[in-house]
Amino acid sequence: MRLIVVSNRVACPKGDEPVEGGLAAALVPAVRTSGAIWVGSSRKPTSAAEKEGFAQMEPLGRGAVVTIGIPSEQFSGFYEGFANSALWPAFHSRTDLISTNVEHYVSYREVNALIARPLLRLTRPDAMFWVHDYHFLTMASELRKLGIVQPIGFFFHTPFPSRDIILSLPHHSELIQAMLNYDLIGFQTDADLENFADYLRQELNLTGNANVFTTNQGSTRLACFPIGIDVEQFAEQAVTSASQPEAARLRSCLQGSKLVIGVDRVDYSKGLLNRLRAFDQLLQCHPEWKRAVTFLQIGVPSRGKIPVYRQLQREVASLVGDINGRHSEVDWIPIRYLNRGFSRASLAGFYRAAHVGLVTSLNDGMNLVAKEYVAAQNPLDPGVLVLSRFTGAAKQLDAALVVNPHDIDGVSRAVVQALGMPAKERRERWDAMMETLKSSSLDMWFSDFVSNLAECPRAERCAWTPDVASTPVRSRQLELTAIP
Ligand code: G6P
Repeated sequence: MRLIVVSNRVACPKGDEPVEGGLAAALVPAVRTSGAIWVGSSRKPTSAAEKEGFAQMEPLGRGAVVTIGIPSEQFSGFYEGFANSALWPAFHSRTDLISTNVEHYVSYREVNALIARPLLRLTRPDAMFWVHDYHFLTMASELRKLGIVQPIGFFFHTPFPSRDIILSLPHHSELIQAMLNYDLIGFQTDADLENFADYLRQELNLTGNANVFTTNQGSTRLACFPIGIDVEQFAEQAVTSASQPEAARLRSCLQGSKLVIGVDRVDYSKGLLNRLRAFDQLLQCHPEWKRAVTFLQIGVPSRGKIPVYRQLQREVASLVGDINGRHSEVDWIPIRYLNRGFSRASLAGFYRAAHVGLVTSLNDGMNLVAKEYVAAQNPLDPGVLVLSRFTGAAKQLDAALVVNPHDIDGVSRAVVQALGMPAKERRERWDAMMETLKSSSLDMWFSDFVSNLAECPRAERCAWTPDVASTPVRSRQLELTAIP
């Protein structure tokens, strides 16, 4: 069987390089061991005049990574435009941040078509396609148009919000109808699945039976597959990294103070400002913790061409400066803010050194940082996870200190509770969380989805592709990449 995995961001890391984004970081080991072919955009500026030969293939473990060049102007309308200024805010319930236009939408649709075409060169009778995330909602309809009858699955890494939020998304109806070309759609949580099913029932008048919805395009099954991590591998990595100079330097400079850690892309969905305010509150209300606690926040710059992300970068930096200015001493700084990415190996060592892992997302599909923090702990002396209830992870890790990230006092109190938690309670909570992580690992997520996809019928489907030609758009000939 040949598995073709598609996601916008792919990674083929050399050695210890950082991998950007939770999705790509999760797929690297899965592709390495499964032998899948992983296809995504090259993200390198490509001119519209370039026609052939800009798809590249590189080995990755037993699998391979294929990158496809997309003309820069189209990529920007697709990536900064419709994907990250309409779909991302909508799926994270920030309808106030939706900002898009028909050009962006057309680029989005064109990029879906552009990536679909070279996939034809990779397919075989026994192939299956697994498409990831909101960048490619219309990929299946493009593949069906090209005659693909093999199973095509889709996985939402983001949340899927309630129907009234989706109604704010321009083109929602045609996008969701196009998704009915997928045989299987996977979600992180039952709530996400329920929201999607509710949309199908209420907006498209479909009746599902046991989460299977049938239209004249064929049948689509909805199912829940919470993504996991490679627990053993990450735990081993944490032990190794803890003895490396970087983690040793971190521990020694703490001078006995306890460490709270946060690791996120700088994204409004992560609740970074609330988190910083909660830490500020802690220092104001509990001066006994001054000098006795340090907060290490790693903020990986993200989507920097989009104004709202640049503004958040400035706001985070300014709030860190303000808090540090008010609370620092000549020989102590409460917040260390590192505005760059680190390799997973380095992060594993930092997590192990931290007494508290702090995740305050306002909305998050899963949040793998929470899982990695738990896996990295010393079983005899584990740290405590303080976790937003609005993450997929909180549905599984209920032994964490689960908080409402909008309740600044509540988060601050939870961090104080975590800092003072007795070892016995820390171990009990950690044991429970580890058991959950082991029973829902990355391998299981991957193989569970793939075996469910394999059960889908390989039948001719009647493709339904929403018509963008009816809208007044640029006339542009798509030039598609050939796979050598
Ligand atoms: C989230 C999304 C991924 C995305 C990642 C990084 O995890 O679900 O699809 O790749 O963020 O975002 P970026 O825009 O840098 O790819």
